[in-house]
Amino acid sequence: MTVLDILLYPDERLRQECEPVEDFADPAIQGTIDDLLETLAAHPACVGVAAPQAGCPLQLLIMDCGRARKPPADHHGLLVVCNPAILHWNGMEVGREGCLSLPDYTGNVVRATEVTVQFQNRHGQEAVLALTGFEARVIQHEMDHLEGKLFVDRLVSRKADLFRRKNYGPTKTKG
Ligand code: NI
Repeated sequence: MTVLDILLYPDERLRQECEPVEDFADPAIQGTIDDLLETLAAHPACVGVAAPQAGCPLQLLIMDCGRARKPPADHHGLLVVCNPAILHWNGMEVGREGCLSLPDYTGNVVRATEVTVQFQNRHGQEAVLALTGFEARVIQHEMDHLEGKLFVDRLVSRKADLFRRKNYGPTKTKG
């Protein structure tokens, strides 16, 4: 497994619309998933990474809210998420987000507080999960990457809602 280089804003490859994962038996796809897992593990307190951040334009993300500094009580642990679609969402909440592709900044972003997501796991098996709170926020952030969107696109005001990180340390949660 390999730790992949993360593309940094404003790299245009972060703006691609990603293609669905179709051949789950393809060793290259499975290898990319393993590399993304290794990449997530290499970034302390990082809770998610999307394939396009590693230059791979596939509808694929991995997340693990158990890696947060203060993990939410109801998280689902490690999720390998292929071809996700939000079936239902509810509520809205402002929260602070970071991103490996914008390592110097955090921002306040409005997200749904509850989402029901349909996806396929790394073996192509269908799943439906209801996610709430921080975990719902993380999957919405990562799914944005699959459409070429970044959290800075969702700020109401760059002046009021964008913050420069005070340090690069492992204490802040990033996705
Ligand atoms: Ni991100």
